[in-house]
Parts: sequence; structure tokens; C-alpha cells
Amino acid sequence: MAKTPLFLLCILTLLASNSIQSYAQQHEFFFAGFNEDTTNITLNGGAVIEHKGTLRLTNDTERVIGHAFYSTPINFKNKNNSTNHKVFSFSTSFAFAIIPQYPKLGGHGFAFTVSPSNKLSNGYPSQYLGLLNPKDLGNFSNHLFAVEFDTVQDFEFNDINDNHVGINLNNMVSNKSVKACFFTDGSTSKQVQDLNLKSGSVIQAWIDYDSSINQLEVRLSPSSSKPTSPILSYQVDLTPIFKETMYVGFSSSTGLLSSSHYILGWSFKINGESKTLSLKKLPSLSSHSNKTTQTRKAIILGLSISFVILVVLTTGLSVYFKMKNYDVIEAWELEVGPHRFPYKELNQATGGFKDKNLIGFGGFGRVYKGVLVLPNSKTEIAVKQISHESKQGLQEFISEIETIGKLRHRNLVELLGWCRKQNDLILVYDFMKNGSLDKYIFEQPRAMLKWEERFRIIKGVAFGLVYLHEECEQTVIHRDVKAGNVLLDCEMNARLGDFGLAKLYDRGENPNTTRVVGTLGYLAPELTRTGKPTTSSDVFAFGALLLEVVCGRRPIEVKALPEELVLVDWVWDRWRLGAVKEVVDCKMGGVYDEVEVLLVVKVGLMCSDESPERRPTMRQVVRYLEREVKLPELDGFGVKKKDFLYSTGSGFGSGNTWSSVGDDVDGGYVSSFTLSGGR
Ligand SMILES: *[C@@H]1O[C@H](CO)[C@@H](O)[C@H](O)[C@H]1NC(C)=O
Ligand SMILES: *[C@@H]1O[C@H](CO)[C@@H](O)[C@H](O)[C@H]1NC(C)=O
Ligand SMILES: *[C@@H]1O[C@H](CO)[C@@H](O)[C@H](O)[C@H]1NC(C)=O
Ligand SMILES: *[C@@H]1O[C@H](CO)[C@@H](O)[C@H](O)[C@H]1NC(C)=O
Ligand SMILES: *[C@@H]1O[C@H](CO)[C@@H](O)[C@H](O)[C@H]1NC(C)=O
Ligand SMILES: *[C@@H]1O[C@H](CO)[C@@H](O)[C@H](O)[C@H]1NC(C)=O
Repeated sequence: MAKTPLFLLCILTLLASNSIQSYAQQHEFFFAGFNEDTTNITLNGGAVIEHKGTLRLTNDTERVIGHAFYSTPINFKNKNNSTNHKVFSFSTSFAFAIIPQYPKLGGHGFAFTVSPSNKLSNGYPSQYLGLLNPKDLGNFSNHLFAVEFDTVQDFEFNDINDNHVGINLNNMVSNKSVKACFFTDGSTSKQVQDLNLKSGSVIQAWIDYDSSINQLEVRLSPSSSKPTSPILSYQVDLTPIFKETMYVGFSSSTGLLSSSHYILGWSFKINGESKTLSLKKLPSLSSHSNKTTQTRKAIILGLSISFVILVVLTTGLSVYFKMKNYDVIEAWELEVGPHRFPYKELNQATGGFKDKNLIGFGGFGRVYKGVLVLPNSKTEIAVKQISHESKQGLQEFISEIETIGKLRHRNLVELLGWCRKQNDLILVYDFMKNGSLDKYIFEQPRAMLKWEERFRIIKGVAFGLVYLHEECEQTVIHRDVKAGNVLLDCEMNARLGDFGLAKLYDRGENPNTTRVVGTLGYLAPELTRTGKPTTSSDVFAFGALLLEVVCGRRPIEVKALPEELVLVDWVWDRWRLGAVKEVVDCKMGGVYDEVEVLLVVKVGLMCSDESPERRPTMRQVVRYLEREVKLPELDGFGVKKKDFLYSTGSGFGSGNTWSSVGDDVDGGYVSSFTLSGGR
């Protein structure tokens, strides 16, 4: 069964290892492509060397970090001469390519890095590029030199745009930066041309430091020849930054938005000019090399190897399948409250977690539809499978399940039980026949919701939130209120899903960090700064939901006109002009209760207030919606234009800058139980 791919792999490996040119001398090295089994490059995080010979720093998964350093530390100072401790000159060039997940929207970039360590284990993803974290920004003990190739504009770090090159010393705020461009050395005069870093095409960069004149220069070009003029030139003595020996390499990360970052070739030299790479001779990103020499030898070798592997595999697999359905229950799992399902039962219910039963996926994991066959009935269930890297994180979370399992409200999706299998947590919920609200608001083919239905759904969600915030034993903050998490039962009652789940991601690998869990456009501005979710950050997200339901569009619409991109700004503009009717979803065909629509818009704007203190509580929201209390005048509320989107802050997931608005591009999951979060 695995025969064809296996021997293909063997051929490719053989071809690749034969075609990659590299060498090293003292103070100098050169890679025209990378060797898969090389020991010369130390990889960390998501970085891998692919068999076609490319070094991939990150794939397009959200919030991954990738590091790749030359394994041998480099001497940057003369140890023997105590009177001359000046850093050496150095020169490097490398070819890179950035392929964004969505055309035009990528994140976050990478940096050529010189650092005392080849681990950088305290680096954060997103705008920190895996280099630093909020605590060590600017600290002289970092001894960090980086030239960043940044594809997201972070206002926190005064980034000039979302396509720039910058020189960073111990800090993520660049000492000097320039928009990505290059000089063409024409016969008559040189010209500057723009260059798109995340176009997906290969770009060569040269970084040269001349220590005799303290001059650092950066050049870019889409070709193999080094331009005479630098695009960035900076006067700096790097001696205090550099230690005697340092590691050189690359660091990269993704955020809410992501790109795959590739290095295709790299040369480096101390006290001399590094050899320029010939782009034609580098491994190509798109297609595998199609050389046919040695193919015959490779086929024979490949076939025999794959035969051996096949035999081993079949015996291995049969043993594995015997073990697979075996549940391991540990002591700490026994005391937990809600029903603990045997894995076998859920495996059966979902037809072995088959793809055809997959009804949703998102930040938290995959959701399958299942049917539980009981002695005298059949129950439809939604089975959510969550993989977690750390067993300890799971253990701590499972103690929370008890609390979540106790939550009962007609506007919440009920948790029926759970199960753990190794590092997979499986949660079993009531199945919601009518799927999630976003399908009804944003997708054309489904029957459109009438205003009465929309209003009833809104109130249902509000009741659910009041319960979570105030009425249950212990305040539960939802943290990911959005249309995709509002599910509709067979009577079109709104039921909130995924409550409490965000807590699972509280405990990342690094205990000192807080991750901001949530979805772009629903994230309250203070959340990106403090990272601390509160009931009023839930209210903010609820406000976004209200406006969505009225307007029939997402909080951030990439395809909209610029002035309509951010929903709340647009609604606020119309409100001030007294033209609220323009924002109402035209798909309702003008049939709606004007007073109610106005009420919902107004409450939505109040909830979207920048300042958490000025937002109403969910209890107040319910009173407004039920018209028990008259709404205050809106003038006092300052929804500042777009500012909240610009803010980025410490913590994971704060890559939600204006330019990184793409999160909703993939909002349309094919699910009747949509999950998201951690995104
Ligand atoms: C890689 O490592 C091998 C063995 O240590 C060495 O012979 C070779 O020169 C190195 N190549 C480069 C480019 O550093
Ligand atoms: C991307 O890399 C991360 C980190 O190594 C890994 O967990 C994830 O599975 C990868 N995703 C894909 C789609 O390859
Ligand atoms: C430093 O001195 C040692 C021994 O005296 C010598 O082997 C080494 O090459 C010298 N290093 C440099 C950079 O001059
Ligand atoms: C040390 O460096 C100084 C200044 O560059 C130079 O004049 C001197 O000759 C060097 N001494 C040795 C032992 O290399
Ligand atoms: C800089 O980092 C060092 C070592 O991590 C730490 O002791 C020091 O307090 C930091 N300084 C500042 C200003 O944060
Ligand atoms: C630039 O680099 C120096 C270190 O040489 C640092 O002290 C300074 O704060 C940096 N930042 C800016 C914005 O110049």
C-alpha cells in the first residue's frame, strides 16, 4: 500500500543528497540548498529541512516558531588580543521565499539572527518573530542582532508598513528600517523598485558589516547579482552587542495569520565578502527536481527498501491496531464528574472518526458527528477531539471538566461526557441539528433568517452569557463568543458552544505566558494588551456579534470597501450620520421591526466601546433587549476609529493588527458545530 510513495521518497532523497553543494572552512560556510540529514544546521520548533533541500522555518500553521542556526558557534572577536576587542567584519547572503497562507495576507516574517544561544527558548511567536518576549525587549543582556524581514505592521514596534526590512538590536523596535525594495543597476542610472517579500518568489538578501568603518548594509534583489547600492545602511558599532562567540541563523514565527518561510541557500564569511548564491542552482520550491540520471539505480534500491519496510509495517500495524483501542485510565481521571465514555464507544459512534463524519474543525480541534446506540434508543452526538501537547495541561484541564459539566442552561450546548486517549481529549456534546449561526448569516444558499428569528437568537445568546457570568456557581468567561460558536437546535434556539474550553490553552508550554484566545474582530482591545480575559471582553465580542447579526457580515470583511472594512467603525459612521438603515442586512428584504433593529445596533455599539468600564454588563444588556430599561444616549460613548484594531500587545495572538485582518477569510467552516479559538 505505501509502496509508491516510499520508493519515490527514496529516489528523491538520493537525488537531493547528490545535488546539494556546500562547503565550510574556518570562518566561512556555503550552502546551496540544505541536506536533510546534515548536522551542520540545528533546527528548533517548527523548522525542518525538506527532502528537496529547502529549509522551511515555519509552515503556515498559526503561532509556530522556527529556528535554524549554524551548529558551530562563530568567533566574532579576537580572543588573543586584549587591546583590540573589536567585533570582526562579517558578510552573509541568503535566498528566501515567503509563501503566505492567503494571497496578500501573511505573517509574521523572519529574521537573520546573531545570538549567544542557538535556542532562543524565550522567544514569542507573532510579532516577536521567535526572538524576544515582552519582558526582555531592549535589554542589553540579550546580545541579539537581527535583520528582520517583516510582513505584518505592528504598531507596538513602530513598524513602518507590512513589508519592510529592519535592523534590530536587542529589541523588536527597529533601529532603522526601510520598505522592501531593490536597486536595479541600469546602464544609465540606478532605479529603485518595490519588492513584495511575501510574493512567494525567491529573493536574495545580502547583509554586510564593515567593522573598520562601523557600517552595516543590507541589499535585496530578486536575482543572483548583488546590487551596488544598499537599501539600508546604518552606522553602528556592533562590538557591545556581540559576544566573543555567537550563533548565526534564522528565526521566524507566525501569528493569527501565517506564512511558510523558506531559506533556500545561505553563505557566510567572517572578515571578507560572502559568496553570492546563484539562484538557479538552488533547490526549487515548487516542483521536485526531475533529473533522471541514477533513476534506475534508485528504483531498484527503492523497491527493495520499500519491500523490507512493507514487511515490517504490516507486522507493526497489526500489533499497533491491537493496542490502539486500549484505554489507559489513570488515577486522576477517576474522580471526575461527568460521564466518562469508553473510547471504544465513541470510536464506534463516529465510525472510527472517519472524515465523512467530520462536521467542523478549528483552533480547538476536530468535531465529528456520531450516533450513540443505546439499548433502546439512538442519540445523535457531536464529538470533539482535541489534541494537546502536554499531558499535564490535559490533567489540569480535566479537573475543570467537572465545572463545565455542571453548567446547564437552555442556551448552552450540553456537555454529555468526555474521554481521554493519550494526549487526546474527547468531549461529547449534544448534537445541534441546525448548525452554527454564521452559516445562516454569511452564506447565501441557506434560507435567510427573518428578523424575529435573529432577535430571538440574540436574546438567547445574551441569556446564556448572563448565566455564565453571573448565575452559575463560579463565573465562567467564554472568551470566544462569535457567530461560529452560536449553535442552533432543532427549534432554532440559540445555544452557545465551547464555553470554558479556552482555559485549556491557558497552560501553554511556557507557564509565564498568557495566550490570548479568541477570534480576530471579536477581541476586545484591552485583551491584546493585558492578555487577561474578563466578562467585559466577552461583552465586547457579544457586541460584535450583535452588529454582525443586524448587518449580515463579519466584524472584519476583507472584501469590503476600505471604509467598510471594520464593521463597528462603519456602523458608527452611519449612526452618526443618522443613516442606520444603510447597515441593515439587505437580505432581510426590508422586512424588520425598526425599533428593535435600532435597539440592537445601539446596544451593539455600546458593547463595542473601547473602554471596558463603559461597556454594559450582560445583565444590563438583557434588560435593554427586553426593553425593561431605557437605553442611555449614545453620545457619551467613544468608539474610537479603528484604534482598537491597531493595538497589539504582549501575549500570544496579539498579531491582530490592522493589516492582519485575514482571520475571517477562513471563517466559513463546513460544520454544524464550529469550533474556533486559539486562533
Ligand atoms: C558539515 O559538517 C561536516 C561534518 O562535520 C563537515 O565536513 C562539512 O564541511 C560541514 N559543511 C558545512 C557547509 O558546514
Ligand atoms: C506545522 O508545524 C507545526 C510545528 O512543527 C506542527 O505541529 C504542525 O502539525 C504542522 N502543520 C502542518 C499542516 O504541517
Ligand atoms: C590565539 O592564540 C592561540 C594560541 O596562542 C592560537 O592557536 C590561535 O590561533 C589564536 N587565535 C587567533 C584568532 O589569533
Ligand atoms: C592587537 O591589536 C592592536 C590594534 O589592532 C594591534 O596594534 C596589535 O598589534 C595586536 N596585537 C597582537 C598581539 O595581535
Ligand atoms: C535584563 O536581563 C537580565 C537577565 O535576564 C535581568 O537580570 C535584568 O533585570 C534585565 N533588565 C531589565 C531592565 O529588565
Ligand atoms: C538602537 O540601538 C542602540 C544600541 O546600539 C540602542 O541603545 C537604541 O535604543 C536602539 N534603538 C533605536 C530606536 O535607536
